[in-house]
Amino acid sequence: MIMKSIITLIFLFSIVNFCYGGKTSDYVRQQWPSADMSKGSFPPPSGYNAPEQVHITQGDKEGRGMIISWVTPLKRLPNIVTYWEESKDNDKQMAKSRVTHYKYFNYSSGFIHHATIENLQYNTKYFYEIGINGTARRFNFITPPEVGPDVPYTFGIIGDLGQTEDSNHTLEHYMANKNAQAVLFLGDLSYADDHPYHNNERWDQWGRFVEKSVAYQPWIWTTGNHEIDYAPEIGEHVPFKPYTHRYHVPYKASQSSSPHWYSIKRASAHIIVLSSYSAYGKYTPQYEWLKQELPKVNRSETPWLFVLLHSPWYNSNNYHYMEGESMRVAFEPWLVEHKVDLVFAGHVHSYERSGRVSNVRYNITNGLSMPIKDASAPVYLTIGDGGNIEGVANNFSEPQPSYSIFREASFGHAILEIKNRTHAFYTWHRNNNTKPVAADTAWFYNRYFYPHEEPDTANV
Ligand SMILES: [Fe+2]
Repeated sequence: MIMKSIITLIFLFSIVNFCYGGKTSDYVRQQWPSADMSKGSFPPPSGYNAPEQVHITQGDKEGRGMIISWVTPLKRLPNIVTYWEESKDNDKQMAKSRVTHYKYFNYSSGFIHHATIENLQYNTKYFYEIGINGTARRFNFITPPEVGPDVPYTFGIIGDLGQTEDSNHTLEHYMANKNAQAVLFLGDLSYADDHPYHNNERWDQWGRFVEKSVAYQPWIWTTGNHEIDYAPEIGEHVPFKPYTHRYHVPYKASQSSSPHWYSIKRASAHIIVLSSYSAYGKYTPQYEWLKQELPKVNRSETPWLFVLLHSPWYNSNNYHYMEGESMRVAFEPWLVEHKVDLVFAGHVHSYERSGRVSNVRYNITNGLSMPIKDASAPVYLTIGDGGNIEGVANNFSEPQPSYSIFREASFGHAILEIKNRTHAFYTWHRNNNTKPVAADTAWFYNRYFYPHEEPDTANV
């Protein structure tokens, strides 16, 4: 009898130990999708051949370089960017862009410029100017602090943005936070491919729409499925053609052979970008690159290790359910071994936060196929809720899986504030129609320097 009671208690304890008390939010965003904003919402700047669609991203491994990109719609020239430190406007420097353009079905792009400027000073405000005479346009950015273990830094996180009024709310809400210094973008940019013939004018419109943020602070790009633009029915056989012409990343600085997977260091973070839509099986270039990349991460220099990808590995929404599963199987053991802190994904148009779980024990015969709590595992965050034309993913699986801490079918963005080598504060902001609302918050403890258990209840 005593033995039976003990066994019952052990059984109950094991259930309790794996039950996080996950929460599905009562708040559900409107179910109908928004239309894309009209063509006139973000018109080109005035003036002949005026530069437009200006955007910047980190241009080297450590944050002393910037790639400045823009489009001149009619002529290849001018192809110069002039830049200078805020305090040294009598010491201007110039860089030449590399210019490209492409055709896609019946669309012909403008001239797309990419100029990489290097050897910038850390933590310094720079101005830059493109265009000439009456069409010159001036912008500015602040370089990150020098890479180091206790450097505070604040990232915004946005995914699946698109170009609807909801997209605009997300972007405006993000921009209202004056502390955020760079965006981790989780893939699916313009949703041009949701329009007839993948109307590439929608790529141009998206470039003009997001310029108000991305011309002033770097967005770190991840490739999503809406960047593939593979359309053999209209003779377009080259995957990622518009995206790779328009958005450059510093992949060679991390010895990558492709712009779809690469890494950067920024402040106290080492950020690894992976591609859900490039081969990742054993022996493929992405597989080999990640295998070599993870051991290179120096946590004493960059304590925080993040992975960005598009299709989530842990997500309990019925939309896109388990699309990320084969990539999880391929790479999850490495992420646990190397104690990745956080994995950010998009793709599913809702929000979800997991506990620290892993599912790496299974060997096809042992039956150990359920995720379990794991202090070495990342937290998985799905932030595919930018507000695009396809609407919200409002069909969660029931019951809520034990790995899921909090989930909500609405739009928004997230902010991650790294405080030091041990603590980071995270907030997910819901678009509550016209204002952002902090709907999920969490303290994350660094897996390398402070691998203690975080409070794992939904905190709303
Ligand atoms: Fe997607």
